[in-house]
Amino acid sequence: MRKKIVAGNWKMNTTVPEGVSLAREVVAKAGEVPSDVKLIVAVPATHLVSVAAVLEGSAVELSAENCADHEKGAYTGEISAAMIASTGATYTILGHSERRQYYGETDEKLVEKARIAFANSLKVILCVGENLEEREAGKHFEVCESQIENVLFKFSAEQMKDFVIAYEPVWAIGTGKTATAAQAEEIHAFIRKTIAGRFGAEIAADMTILYGGSCKPSNAPELFAQEDIDGGLIGGAALKADDFIGIAKSF
Ligand code: PGA
Repeated sequence: MRKKIVAGNWKMNTTVPEGVSLAREVVAKAGEVPSDVKLIVAVPATHLVSVAAVLEGSAVELSAENCADHEKGAYTGEISAAMIASTGATYTILGHSERRQYYGETDEKLVEKARIAFANSLKVILCVGENLEEREAGKHFEVCESQIENVLFKFSAEQMKDFVIAYEPVWAIGTGKTATAAQAEEIHAFIRKTIAGRFGAEIAADMTILYGGSCKPSNAPELFAQEDIDGGLIGGAALKADDFIGIAKSF
């Protein structure tokens, strides 16, 4: 049975004290969420150590939002997978569209990053998704397929258990425009089929595929009711503990 996951992506929001109090609120309310739903908070690198201390002893897991494409060394300003793992984080997001768009993150770099993340025992939340132009040109399947092939297919069947996929249509991120449940389900099912084509039905059935893009407590129930939607990667709504927990209660 694949895991249900609701992961908050805080992006470049909150100071450390603000982040610590948000994490405290999430931990305080985590008991309201069904026990088969895993909660993850992906926080800025500066917050990892302090938030790890807040999450200790709770079921909420910690994630970074990115990691470096090198093991260590002279890469000023970068944060390595080993550094992230040493804080107590167990996941890192990779390939978020904001990183692809603003920081030149290519599929090739993502392969390197995921390889190093795994070498340091981090699991990877890999984001894929088309932009508006690609959606309007009817290329959304093609775009997601190539992102999956270029990154996921570079890893072994055994490593699939350490990946979570997040389908995030770029046109729905932070715009208030959510993909309809049918639009999201169509791509999720397609991604699962693509994975099955390469790794077999069993591995595909076990893969957690999250939806991301203006997900909130009001639209989460319909999205999460879809066969192939196993939870969400939540941006804006993850900055309010009530909304984040409300979403996680939507299954
Ligand atoms: P949003 O962001 O929920 O604010 O649209 C989702 C994401 O980018 O992960």
